[in-house]
Amino acid sequence: MTNTIHTNSRRIVIFDTTLRDGEQSPGASMNLAEKMEVAQALLALGVDVIEAGFPIASPGDFEAVSEIARSVRGAQICGLARCRDADIDRAWEALRHAEQPRIHVFLATSAIHREFKLKMDKDGIICHAVAGVKRAAGYCPNVEFSPEDAARTEPDFLCRVVEAAIAAGATTVNIPDTVGYATPSHMHHVIQTLCNRVPNIDKAVISVHCHNDLGMAVANSLAAVEAGAGQIECTINGLGERAGNCSLEEVIMALRTRSDFYHAHTNVNTKRLVPTSRLVANVTGIQVQRNKAIVGRNAFAHEAGIHQDGMLKERTTYEIMRPEDVGFATTELVLGKHSGSAALASRIKALGYSLGKEQIQQIFEMFKVLADKKKEIYDADIAALIEQEIRQVPELWSFVSYNITSGTGQIPSVHLRLRRGPSEVSTDVVGGDGPVDAVFLAIENLTGISVVCKDFNVHSVTVGKDAQGEVMVQIEHNGRMYRGRGVSTDSVEASAKAFLNAVNKIAATSSVGVPPASPN
Ligand code: KIV
Ligand code: ZN
Repeated sequence: MTNTIHTNSRRIVIFDTTLRDGEQSPGASMNLAEKMEVAQALLALGVDVIEAGFPIASPGDFEAVSEIARSVRGAQICGLARCRDADIDRAWEALRHAEQPRIHVFLATSAIHREFKLKMDKDGIICHAVAGVKRAAGYCPNVEFSPEDAARTEPDFLCRVVEAAIAAGATTVNIPDTVGYATPSHMHHVIQTLCNRVPNIDKAVISVHCHNDLGMAVANSLAAVEAGAGQIECTINGLGERAGNCSLEEVIMALRTRSDFYHAHTNVNTKRLVPTSRLVANVTGIQVQRNKAIVGRNAFAHEAGIHQDGMLKERTTYEIMRPEDVGFATTELVLGKHSGSAALASRIKALGYSLGKEQIQQIFEMFKVLADKKKEIYDADIAALIEQEIRQVPELWSFVSYNITSGTGQIPSVHLRLRRGPSEVSTDVVGGDGPVDAVFLAIENLTGISVVCKDFNVHSVTVGKDAQGEVMVQIEHNGRMYRGRGVSTDSVEASAKAFLNAVNKIAATSSVGVPPASPN
């Protein structure tokens, strides 16, 4: 179960597209600071290529690619472009300060796309693809070409396009299964065909980019590797268009755990998988399901008595990977009310966070408050406190307290107190269709910021009646979406904190919501 690198093992290039295709997941958009944080985490994880965005798509995408290109050293930074001059020029403008820039140009090749989307014949496609690759190669030698919807493209035509793109200067040819239509043996056949029939295929790295519409993105990517692909495109937590992309953590652990079969390895530090997954879940607000392979909370939990018994005798009876190898801390139950700050600091480190002294002290204060309410503090509780501390936004308004009267068939009545600077303000609201809605109305009333709640999600951080509830909300204000997160052992309080967290983000980016506070 160690990370054995077999003789003749091939090094597979890991191309992460969390910040581009992953960000195309509905509701997963990230702001610049969040993208920078994710890019740094991907670097620490050890991916080879970071696709930072699609520069022509929006000014925000351009800015993110430029900032990442300027400041992230040690990985190739890639920007996406259609085979159009303006796209490629804009991509280069964003990438030109990168230490190792890569331009990724794409053009659809399947009959459906040619006929209905592009209205172009086969020769026209070849001509555009070649022109796009040549223009990109004029800027930098590291050029990737993707024939979009390759998995549904006629094999003969796909071979022609790939050969022409390599001859024009593409150093990586990426084979996307854009709509998640392929099966493992189909994908294996596509890659094998390219290896056997494209005369200059040895001049480029073959890459694979699989979508998960039929739940086969990881299996298809592995089949492509088996057939000769040398690069996998993937995303953290499998984020991406529709059902998402190939999940990075799953494909990495499959290659590692079955290195005897694939004879392949990567540069990824697998101990960073869980912390990176948590970070992406927290910044996008899209939590992974409990039973998600590798990073889900239940991925290493053994429930059946027979399994537990086997594990106690010899863990390999039921465990093919060790939780610590993917970044789960070794023990689950950790600290209690009598634990000191040194013990807490060591758990924080074991969870993969590197924090300064002041931040640790701040978390220790929060930990003591929590330990008074909750007997047993688990790793997940500590991670929730850390996320709350490190992802703080400037707080114009902070939560103080609430009182509520509510019941079946009764209109809720809430008294809410908030702090704004040195003053406390309060309001009484009667309304809403439940206690949480009433608290949200009271916050809108006090802050003067009206919003539409688009998503509300609550889950328990750990187990037991005294578990902390974590609430994620997404609210819309003036056409923009804001996410908020709150944690408490009281779920109405967690909801209030999450809502206020999102409202504070609105206040920080606009001049709304700053009516004079009436001290009280
Ligand atoms: O799915 C797809 O085809 C893509 C390309 C741009 C590579 O994301
Ligand atoms: Zn894609």
